[in-house]
Amino acid sequence: MQKTLVLLKPDCVERRLIGEIIGRFENKGLNVVAMKMLRVTPALSKQHYAEHVSKSFYPNLESFITSSPIVALALEGLEAIRVVRDMLGATNGLKAAPGTIRGDFSSSRQMNLVHASDSEESATRELALYFQPSEVCEYTPTLVGSFRASDES
Ligand code: CMP
Repeated sequence: MQKTLVLLKPDCVERRLIGEIIGRFENKGLNVVAMKMLRVTPALSKQHYAEHVSKSFYPNLESFITSSPIVALALEGLEAIRVVRDMLGATNGLKAAPGTIRGDFSSSRQMNLVHASDSEESATRELALYFQPSEVCEYTPTLVGSFRASDES
């Protein structure tokens, strides 16, 4: 099992798409194991997007990510990091395939609705930025047997 960090960005919150997007993850069979709404500060933005801070688009990215509240989620599932990234689609909504979240709801490179960790290292680092270990609720849903066979874990 893997855990991954997902952020529903300000455009997702402003467009009232929180339920729609979380519903996609739940329908896929991923477990929500932590969730909170918060306002990203400039300091948290610089930590979260450390690899982008020196890039030309970073000032606009920081303005955007701090502009309205976001919803942070920890999702758990088999191969969750890849599965969630595949569900998001390409970074640029104009290039994301139909059927993906960005492909269906975004026409923008910056306002692409959702962020998700891209590797195990990123997931570990990013989850720790948003959640204390005690805020992550481990549980096995009773419906797990309706989502996959017992030898698939
Ligand atoms: P995300 O998956 O959160 O990771 C970094 C974010 O930076 C990305 O989604 C986009 O919102 C944004 N981003 C990436 N590349 C560009 C770019 N060239 N111009 C503007 N924003 C970008």
